[in-house]
Amino acid sequence: METIILEISGNNKKDEEIYSKAAEILKKGGLVAFPTETVYGLGANALDPKASRKIYAAKGRPSDNPLIVHIADVSALYDLSVDVNEMALKVADEFWPGPLTMILKKKNIVPNEITGGLGTVAIRMPSHPTARHLIERSGLYIAAPSANTSQHPSPTKAKHVMKDLNGKIDMIIKDDTVDIGIESTIVDLTGDIPIILRPGYITKEMLGKVLGKVEVDMAIVEGGVTSAVPKAPGMKYKHYAPQADLTIVEGKETDVIAKINSIAREKITKGFKIGIMSTDESFHRYTQGDVRSVGTRSDEATVAKHLYEVLREFDELEVDYIYSEGFSRDNVGQAVMNRLIKAAGHTIINV
Ligand code: TXA
Ligand code: MG
Repeated sequence: METIILEISGNNKKDEEIYSKAAEILKKGGLVAFPTETVYGLGANALDPKASRKIYAAKGRPSDNPLIVHIADVSALYDLSVDVNEMALKVADEFWPGPLTMILKKKNIVPNEITGGLGTVAIRMPSHPTARHLIERSGLYIAAPSANTSQHPSPTKAKHVMKDLNGKIDMIIKDDTVDIGIESTIVDLTGDIPIILRPGYITKEMLGKVLGKVEVDMAIVEGGVTSAVPKAPGMKYKHYAPQADLTIVEGKETDVIAKINSIAREKITKGFKIGIMSTDESFHRYTQGDVRSVGTRSDEATVAKHLYEVLREFDELEVDYIYSEGFSRDNVGQAVMNRLIKAAGHTIINV
C-alpha cells in the first residue's frame, strides 16, 4: 500500500481538503496517522472492528492491548459508557480537552476488539486542533494508539511515523506541532478510588485537587512490587525502547558526568558506538561519544518533549550503548522517568 503524507499548512482551503480526504479514508475503514498534543496517534473508526484490527496488524501490537477512543465532545461519554459517574464529569470538566485518558465501564457498541476483551473502555478528548478537526470532520469516534511500531518509542514527528509505518497505513497528516512529547495520563474511574494506570503530564497532585484521594497502580511505581501485573495491559511490555542498550546513571551531577565519560571511553576503546543523553547544562562536559541534550534541568517539560526524539536519533546513529542522566521527578518528570526506566529495562547505576 502507498502511504500518502499531507501537511497542514495553515491555509484553510488546502487544510480542509486534507481533513476531508482523511475523513473519507477513516469512514471506509482505513488508517490515518495524525498529531495530538501528546504524541502522534494511528487512527481508525473505533466502532468498526475490522478497521481496528488493521491497527494491530500495522503496529504488530498484541491483541490483548486495548486502544484509546478519541472524542471531540463530552456528550460522547454517554454513547460509549454505561456509567458516566461524577468523577468522570469532574475530570472532563477540568482536564478536557487535554492529555488525560479515563477508563470507564463500556457500552456494548464498543467492540471487544478495541478493548482487548475488557469490560472497560479508555476515552480521551485531545486538545490538538488537527486531532479535533479530524474527529469532528469524520463524525466518528477514533481509536488511536501511538503511531509507532509496537515497542518502539512513540512518534512526535511525522518522519518517525513514516519510519515505522510507511507502506502499512493509508495516510499521515503531517503537523509537527506535538507539544508534550509523552503519552497521556491514564486514570481508572471504574472503582470507588481513582487509580492512575500510566503517569503523564497531568499529575497525581493535579487529579487529587479535583477528585480527593487518588492512588497509583503499584505495578507501575518505580522499584515497586515488580511481580504485580499492571492494570493497563500496555504497561507490562518493554516499551518505548530504542534499539541500543540503555543505562541510566544517577547521582550528583559531577559524579554522573565523570562516570558516563569513563564508561564511554572504555566502550569506545572496545570499538562500540556510544550515545549520551545529557541536558543543556551538562552537554559541554562530555568528552566522547554522540552527545545530545534532551532539554534543560530547569524545566522537566522540555525533557518530556524531546525524550523520544533523542532516543530515535540514537537509533538512526546506530549506537550500541546509550547512557542517560537521570532527570527530575517533579511534575511531568515523574512520567519521564517512568518511560526512561522502562526503556532502560530497569538498568540504573547509582554513583
Ligand atoms: O497520549 C496518548 O494517550 C496517545 C495519543 C495518540 O492519544 N495514545 C496512546 O495510546 O498512548 P497507546 O495505545 O499507545 O496506549 C494506550 C494505553 C495502553 O497501555 C493500554 O493498555 C491502555 O492505554 N488501555 C487502553 N484501554 C484500557 C482499558 N480499558 N483498561 C486499562 N488500560 C487500558
Ligand atoms: Mg503506545
